[in-house]
Order: sequence, then structure tokens, then C-alpha cells
Amino acid sequence: MSPLVPSHEIATAARLLRDGGLVAFPTETVYGLGADATNDQAVAAIFETKGRPRFNPLIIHLPTANEARSFGEFDDRAERLAALFWPGPLSLVLPRPPHSPVSLLASAGLDSLALRVPDHPLAVKLLKETGRPVAAPSANRSGRVSPTTAEHVREELGERLAAILDGGPCRVGLESTVLDLTGPVAAILRHGGVTRSAIEAAIGPVMEALEDDNAPRSPGMLSSHYAPSLTIRLNAENVRPGEALLAFGDNPPSGFADIRWLSRASDLREAAANLFALLRSLDRPEFSGIAVMPIPETGLGAAINDRLRRAAAPRG
Ligand code: TXA
Ligand code: MG
Repeated sequence: MSPLVPSHEIATAARLLRDGGLVAFPTETVYGLGADATNDQAVAAIFETKGRPRFNPLIIHLPTANEARSFGEFDDRAERLAALFWPGPLSLVLPRPPHSPVSLLASAGLDSLALRVPDHPLAVKLLKETGRPVAAPSANRSGRVSPTTAEHVREELGERLAAILDGGPCRVGLESTVLDLTGPVAAILRHGGVTRSAIEAAIGPVMEALEDDNAPRSPGMLSSHYAPSLTIRLNAENVRPGEALLAFGDNPPSGFADIRWLSRASDLREAAANLFALLRSLDRPEFSGIAVMPIPETGLGAAINDRLRRAAAPRG
């Protein structure tokens, strides 16, 4: 396929994104698996399609720095880095503004968002036409390497996507650098296309807090990780006095103080889409705790249960 994609294909891809579909698109780093970041169900479909065993926060893509400004709280460091490196392979983790339209699932419940303006004409056109922030992890199945050609994406995820925009091979071929600016000292969470020394030349010393799947960062250390203050009780078959119920399926136990449905139809994608918002909405002092009905461990259920187990774990 030619790297020159006709503009009507971009318009079609943008419409598919607005309709909740998944669209793979090229960036200068790697191909992204894009979804409308304001659509919980579309974001849930990203995790389902990648087959990830847990929810991790996704990078939110915007066509210009100006548009990115409405999705994060920019301080002087962020402004300087955006001016120097955007468009380009740098993702900035910033506090999420109040009333952000971005799905809580896209940031895995965090109070921060990773923002990036890609340096690729096709990506920028697609983002402009879509008119929404686009969440996009690398377009590979979980555990596989990131794709740098449309052919890689087609082989791995082809039949599950609404569209794949082919922009030829990616120029950088390595993911963006992820820099956390939510604390007083900037922290590199992932090395990538922009070097540590280039960042330090712009904003002074940064530390490294590289992500390690086996040692998740402690809550509140860098960006605050949402943990409910109420006790969470998993696999609940009944309800104790004062408990609110997080229900799954059409046969909930009775006697709850309040009830919210992850999914009445036992649909795991719908449950994933609702998870973070419902946990927050039930976390109120008038309840004695939150009981959660059993969720099957299949498909997205594994990631949902992983998150619930962590919310239920005793905290020091
Ligand atoms: O080059 C790239 O960044 C590609 C292209 C498609 O833009 N995207 C990409 O996305 O690599 P993904 O989802 O594979 O990696 C996102 C990284 C993860 O390491 C994630 O933990 C981190 O960014 N991240 C995203 N949001 C975060 C947040 N709010 N706080 C901390 N880390 C965050
Ligand atoms: Mg990846």
C-alpha cells in the first residue's frame, strides 16, 4: 500500500473513531491503536483488543500543543518542554483538570493524564478531523513488540480494527519518552525518543522512576493513584448492613444500601467502561463498604479483577 493515504480515507477513519471504533494510525514513533478517549466503551475495546491482563494508563494524543492545553494542567516546565519537543516523541504526564471529558479508564483511574502531540502528518490530520482526544497505546497484542509498519498491525490485530491507516514505516521506531510532571521533581517513567539530557537541558535535573510491571509504583508517590477509602469486599454473594453493591449480571442479592451496575447484561466491556467511575461514585461515607459481585476471569474480566483486588488489598 502506498504511504500516501487519500484524504477521504482520513475522513472515514475520523468518523469511525467518533463512532466508537478502533483505528490504527502511524506516528513518528510506532503505530498507535486509537480510540475516542472520551468514550469509555471504545477505550475498554482497546484493552480487550490488546488482550492486556491489567489496565494501564494510555497516552492521549492531540493535534497541537494548543489543544493539548485543555486536557492537562501545564506548569512552566510543561510549557517549555511542549515548545521545544512538540510535535515529537515526548509524552507529558500532567494533573488532570477537574471535569475532564477523558474516560477514567483511559488513565486507569489516575488523577493525571499523559499527553502527546505526534510528529506525523497523517496522525495530525486524523486527530484534527476527529476533533476528540485520541487514546492510543502501541498497536500490538499484549507482550508483543510495538509495530512500526501497517503490515505488522494487520498481521496482529487486522480483523479486530475498524481501519488501519498506512503511513509507511515509522521514522523513530521507538516509543515516546514518558515524563511525569505531577511532582516537584520531574521523573522519567519510560525512556524513548527524547533523551534525558535533552530534557535536563530544558528544565534542569530529572530523576528516573522507570516502570516495572512487577513493582507497581506506590500509591501517591508520583501521580496519585485512586484508592477508594471504603473497604471493598470481592466475590460477594450477599450484602452486609450498610454496604453498597457493585453489581454484575441480572441477579443481584438484596438488602444493599445502594446499587450500581457494572453491567446488567454481564458484558465485560461495559463493566470495564464503568469500573473506575462507579468505584468513585460509591465511595461515600454513608456506606459501610462496597460489596462487589463475582466477575468472571475471562477476557477483560482478568483486568477488572486485577484492579478490584488492588482496591480491596489492605492499605498501610
Ligand atoms: O510512542 C508512543 O508513546 C506510542 C504512540 C502510539 O504514541 N504510544 C505508546 O503507548 O507507547 P503505550 O500505551 O504503549 O504506553 C503508554 C505509557 C505506559 O508506560 C504508561 O504506563 C504510561 O505511558 N502512562 C500513560 N499515562 C500515564 C499516567 N497518567 N501516569 C503515569 N504513566 C502513564
Ligand atoms: Mg506498548
